[in-house]
Amino acid sequence: MTAQRSQAKTPPLALVIFGASGDLTARKLLPALASLAGNGSLADGFVLVGIARTKWSDDEFRDHCLEAVPDAKPAWGELVRRFRYVSGNYDDGATFSQISAVLADLDEPNAGGGTAGNRLFYLATVPALFGEVARGLARHDLNRPGPGGRFARLVIEKPFGRDLETAKALDETLHECFDEPQIYRIDHYMGKETVQNVLALRFANSIFEPVWNRRYVGHVHVTVGESLGVEHRGSFYESAGALRDIVQNHVMQVLALTLMEPSATMDPTSIRDEKVKLLRSIMAPRPDEVGRAVVRAQYTAGTIDGEPVLGYREEDGVDPHSTTETFVAMRLSVDNWRWAGVPVFIRTGKRLAKRSTEVVMVFQRPPHLPFAGKLTRGLQPNALILRIQPDEGITLRFGAKVPGQDYRVRTVAMEFSYKDAFGTDPPEAYERLLLDAMIGDPTLFIRTDEVEQAWRLLEPLQEAFSEGYPHLSLYNAGTWGPLEAARLLEPDGYEWVNP
Ligand code: BG6
Repeated sequence: MTAQRSQAKTPPLALVIFGASGDLTARKLLPALASLAGNGSLADGFVLVGIARTKWSDDEFRDHCLEAVPDAKPAWGELVRRFRYVSGNYDDGATFSQISAVLADLDEPNAGGGTAGNRLFYLATVPALFGEVARGLARHDLNRPGPGGRFARLVIEKPFGRDLETAKALDETLHECFDEPQIYRIDHYMGKETVQNVLALRFANSIFEPVWNRRYVGHVHVTVGESLGVEHRGSFYESAGALRDIVQNHVMQVLALTLMEPSATMDPTSIRDEKVKLLRSIMAPRPDEVGRAVVRAQYTAGTIDGEPVLGYREEDGVDPHSTTETFVAMRLSVDNWRWAGVPVFIRTGKRLAKRSTEVVMVFQRPPHLPFAGKLTRGLQPNALILRIQPDEGITLRFGAKVPGQDYRVRTVAMEFSYKDAFGTDPPEAYERLLLDAMIGDPTLFIRTDEVEQAWRLLEPLQEAFSEGYPHLSLYNAGTWGPLEAARLLEPDGYEWVNP
């Protein structure tokens, strides 16, 4: 991390959120800010400026901010009083003139701001508007850092394009207006404590790293399971699918941290260099392997927590004949010294049996068991299970002698739970990411070459999917996906560890 990371407080700044009346702002950004305010992490010169088309006054926006976080500490109420709001269209120069005037006003300590010329622009809008907003900011000179170390940064949310070409086009537009170090791309999985802990686990301990390689690990699997369906995002999801929505970003980021080489320091460049190197070594199935190494599926009606739920094709905004995948599983490999020959299985799906994200390192079986075969029947290989969410923690699975006269060995587990160890649930991902963007620590944000590499890797699969290949399997909502997903591991003699 950069040296600034240790600061408990942000510098003075104006946080300008585009899409301020939207869902992301209400559900994630405002609660994260309220929590930071409650911890005393926001400078006195912090002001939020909301921008959206909704016709609100400053006071109406302030009421919205209070309503979004009903259980906030009193510090939030005090802070909200200074928030400002600009309503307007992003294709209208007048909107940006007004933003510029509000920001200039806030820079002055006497006008209730004291934001000192520092600006963080957060694009919580639909991605189609990213380019327009960036250009609007540039036309009004709001993209340039000011004198005396003042900063102007741009935060954007995934999806970063929908394939390699559109990702590059988006970057070109952004780079016309902002330099790469000014751009903070959010993948909220990087804000999760448990994802960051992958590095602590690997590099702050001496017992794991020596076995973290092909000599000891038999295979790796990553599950990003959701029990939710597509909710109110049916029409967005129709054009995304699980490969774009989860695999290209969240799964690749988790894999990168799990499998990358140690970085000499926690410096943002070193960490991100190692992640890119790892992403470059991942081999996705070739087109001729897709049939046996990739599973593409969609949920049909089923039951979750005892409640009947609709099938994907019956969801609002979804084509009744849709072939969009809501589940993907595949076998990858990593072509480098550390991981050569170790299969990496990934799977993600909506409407699965449980919400659960886990990384499972399954170790090789002992080369020889001196116990009678019947005494070790059912003994599973050692595994280290990183429970990213929920029930955040780590499980070490191993064999232990069952009390008694003979050497019967059974699989048991040693558990670490964040909540029990630290007496608190891990903070929300957005809290950490917002703070880092305000402080100027880019370590947890996604660099342009990471985005491009992930698209490059998945591009052949995207093409195959768009040609209807492999065939679309179906699975009942509330299960762990189609049978084909279980069969994916069979040739290697493995099975999924279901959470
Ligand atoms: C988002 C996806 O990036 O991540 C959603 O667009 C998904 O479809 C969400 O539901 C999952 O996030 P989390 O933090 O609940 O695992």
